[in-house]
Amino acid sequence: MTRLESTSAEQTVEIGRRLGRVLRAGAVVSLEGPLGAGKTTLVKGIAGALGVEEPVTSPSFTLISSYHGATDLHHVDLYRLEALAEIEDLGLEELMAGEGVTVIEWGEKAEALLPADAIRVRVAIDGGARAVSIEGAAP
Ligand SMILES: Nc1ncnc2c1ncn2[C@@H]1O[C@H](COP(=O)(O)OP(=O)(O)OP(=O)(O)O)[C@@H](O)[C@H]1O
Ligand SMILES: [Mg+2]
Repeated sequence: MTRLESTSAEQTVEIGRRLGRVLRAGAVVSLEGPLGAGKTTLVKGIAGALGVEEPVTSPSFTLISSYHGATDLHHVDLYRLEALAEIEDLGLEELMAGEGVTVIEWGEKAEALLPADAIRVRVAIDGGARAVSIEGAAP
């Protein structure tokens, strides 16, 4: 388990970049933490490390955004979904089985679908600071 502290959005992007550098093709990352914790901010860093040039925006409405990079990135946001059946209908399993990296905000909602080797990132809000813990990868 790696524990890191971030006192700014820029630092959170940098943590994402560090994590992105150690991800293998096909990796699945579950991002957990409350609204505004910095999950999407982390994804911006991960995207940078994967060589995605397009700016990453929150997929809250689209649910899944895919980006082309040296390694492709699938960015999923399950905030709006509750029922496992709805989540299953997204086709996550197919995405996760592919060569790209799949990063899932509110990944705990898809717990039953996550592979055993999914990387868990938990972000806790501590005033303006964020405590980021990473399990399953060593950035
Ligand atoms: N240390 C920090 N790390 C990350 N974001 C921070 C930090 N301090 C302040 N912020 C601010 O908190 C907000 C985090 O937003 P972000 O969209 O990344 O969160 P999120 O977890 O994806 O939220 P949501 O659950 O709505 O998807 C941004 O406005 C960012 O500037
Ligand atoms: Mg978000």
